[in-house]
Amino acid sequence: MFRSLRKMLSPAAAIRTPEAHAMKLLHIDSSILGPNSVSRALSADIVARQVALHPGTELVYRDLASDTALHLTGVHLAARQGTPIEDAALRKDVACGDVYIDDLFAADIIVIGTPMYNFSIPSQLKAWIDRVVVAGKTFRYGANGAPESLLPKGKKIYIASSRGGVYAPGSPAAALEHHESYLIGVLAFIGLRCHRRSRRGYCARPRRARRGDC
Ligand SMILES: Cc1cc2nc3c(=O)[nH]c(=O)nc-3n(C[C@H](O)[C@H](O)[C@H](O)COP(=O)(O)O)c2cc1C
Repeated sequence: MFRSLRKMLSPAAAIRTPEAHAMKLLHIDSSILGPNSVSRALSADIVARQVALHPGTELVYRDLASDTALHLTGVHLAARQGTPIEDAALRKDVACGDVYIDDLFAADIIVIGTPMYNFSIPSQLKAWIDRVVVAGKTFRYGANGAPESLLPKGKKIYIASSRGGVYAPGSPAAALEHHESYLIGVLAFIGLRCHRRSRRGYCARPRRARRGDC
């Protein structure tokens, strides 16, 4: 009896239980290499696993390489202050930034595929960051000057990262690692703590590095 109860309460049983609240998963890719991309394959694996874990998950997919936001300009900043925009294309692009922020508010799980390009993230992903790290929307400065997140708490962030070189602490190129460290840092700045980082078979938790399944 107890054994069968234990079985019912096991994680495997939990996987099969339909969830009351449909999880919302935001999946972002930024590699320019389309179907040959390593980070896209990694992010797709993570998404597939999450969907299997949470039946009924609602997916939003943003392919930043094929649908790239423009670089931030003074017009974008002025628009945030309420200045009307004449140009229709720019108006659409500004609205796209608002959609990105809505995506972030809505998502329970966020999966970001990012290759390393020139020691950092792709510029397409940086353009996305410039649209979502917005004072007064996703964060604010608190009384002591420290940033405070304005996003709902409890989101799970997965980073699917790929790169050609080795940047482990102590390695010759360690000082050039502005890729995962930057992305994890800027997401944490707006209150999104990296849950797992997955890099071509290597997996690490922020505080406790380990190898294996991720
Ligand atoms: C434009 C470009 C720049 C790159 N810069 C670096 C780099 O600075 N350091 C590195 O280790 N690998 C670099 N690489 C290699 C990629 O990070 C590596 O091939 C990775 O697997 C690409 O991910 P993707 O297949 O998802 O695009 C670069 C590749 C490209 C295409």
